Amino acid sequence: MNVQTDPKKLVTGQYKDTKPLNIRQAYNDQFKPRIDLDEEIRKVLQNDKTGDILDIGCGNGNTLIYLRKNGFSGKMIGIDISDGIMQPGKKVASECHLEFQNASADNLPFGENTFDIVIARHMLYHMPDVAKVMQEVKRVLKPGGKFIITLNSMDNKPIFNHIIQKIKEKFGFVIVRNANVINTENIQRFLAPHFSFSVYEFRTSYPIESTSPFIEYFKTYQTTFERELTESEWRDVLTEAERELSSLMAKDSNLHEYNVGSVITANL
Ligand SMILES: C[S@@+](CC[C@H](N)C(=O)[O-])C[C@H]1O[C@@H](n2cnc3c(N)ncnc32)[C@H](O)[C@@H]1O
Repeated sequence: MNVQTDPKKLVTGQYKDTKPLNIRQAYNDQFKPRIDLDEEIRKVLQNDKTGDILDIGCGNGNTLIYLRKNGFSGKMIGIDISDGIMQPGKKVASECHLEFQNASADNLPFGENTFDIVIARHMLYHMPDVAKVMQEVKRVLKPGGKFIITLNSMDNKPIFNHIIQKIKEKFGFVIVRNANVINTENIQRFLAPHFSFSVYEFRTSYPIESTSPFIEYFKTYQTTFERELTESEWRDVLTEAERELSSLMAKDSNLHEYNVGSVITANL
């Protein structure tokens, strides 16, 4: 396990509360054309509005809340290993008829054939054993059920990748990139033994005109280094990230970052 797959590190680090996730989502919302993943999931499921839904790694619960507000009427349960991150969802759970439970996606606390739909939105890259999750999802899905997955591509965020490479070269500090582990490209081999599936890939872009939005986004990765950095090491990293980004901007007045990912619809 590494810092991106160790549940203890995730729960005390980047998913202790909703703050880093909110910053990342706000950053991604600036990319054009804007991709609203909850809306993409709604579109994929528009003919399944009465099905029972499980959202694994549900985070703040926004996906289930969005589906409920858009006419989905089945039972809806969200599970996550972090209680902190589920707090916004829990606050509206009774009003929206949602349930939230603390559980891990590789050991689902549900019987066989329980759900019509399972959603895994940007979370499979945190699983130490993705094949085990596939088996668990298959077990809890009813025959003919759907598994909706969203993931980043290996080509996601090239400017971010460039900067973390520079930081590795300069200081030897390594950010563990979750998109390098499980991504649009390699998830297909985990799905193939169990599901038929189709992939919708998107590629959006954002013009980098000042350093601050990128740096705010970059700061949410403080806890994702192979080893914990001291405060002074982290300050050096931030200074270097800002310096390198400014130098890229000086060389290219039309500098763009890219958000590349997919929505995968898998059928049992
Ligand atoms: C990038 S966030 C995505 C949250 C939400 N699905 C979304 O798209 O906004 C990843 C989520 O997966 C959760 N997670 C990580 N490992 C998990 C596990 N083993 N079982 C369930 N959830 C997990 C994290 O706590 C976090 O809420």
